Amino acid sequence: MSSGVRRISLGIDWLDYAMLGGGVPRGNWLLITGEPGVGKSILTIQAAGGANVDAMPVVYVSTETRFFDVVRQARQFNIDLSDAVSLADVLAGKVKDVKTNLVVIDLFGLAREYRELLRAGEEEEGKSKARSPLSMEVVMASIERAYEVLGVSEEGKVTKDVLVIIDSLAPDVGPCAGDG
Ligand SMILES: Nc1ncnc2c1ncn2[C@@H]1O[C@H](COP(=O)(O)OP(=O)(O)OP(=O)(O)O)[C@@H](O)[C@H]1O
Ligand SMILES: [Mg+2]
Repeated sequence: MSSGVRRISLGIDWLDYAMLGGGVPRGNWLLITGEPGVGKSILTIQAAGGANVDAMPVVYVSTETRFFDVVRQARQFNIDLSDAVSLADVLAGKVKDVKTNLVVIDLFGLAREYRELLRAGEEEEGKSKARSPLSMEVVMASIERAYEVLGVSEEGKVTKDVLVIIDSLAPDVGPCAGDG
């Protein structure tokens, strides 16, 4: 492709070159849809592993699988995600001196910490609405925290390309719903 768009390789040749003309256009979301069980989740794990090999920071949001199951499922496909860190573990103080390129946000694992994630913003705005850990506000706040853990944000601005993967989205929730 000769357009000026920079493309981010997912490390999956058939997807990058046969389907995407070199990878995901930088700054865009790629929506993967398909029947249950066709392999969408495995594909996202493969992309996380591929980006990790290329030393690209990755935020992997899982709404349906626990952190350890993501790593275990990857291992079954010979994808090494053993240096992945769970955001819930970081927030709970279980992981110190984090050095990783791959932060997994397992939304069920965040059930205890998500109120804390939202607290700062809510105090400022004087809101006290209870939200579910699966709300888009929690997803967006978690991704911001993951950027900090990866060391790719400064004063709220992202300083490096990051691959953000969300598996999966409910059909009625758009990826940028929090941005207005
Ligand atoms: N390339 C593959 N080779 C062998 N088995 C695979 C492959 N991809 C996926 N599978 C198997 O197929 C099953 C479903 O895959 P996966 O969970 O990725 O599907 P999915 O599209 O995400 O489904 P859902 O819509 O239910 O989330 C899993 O048991 C997985 O181990
Ligand atoms: Mg799936």
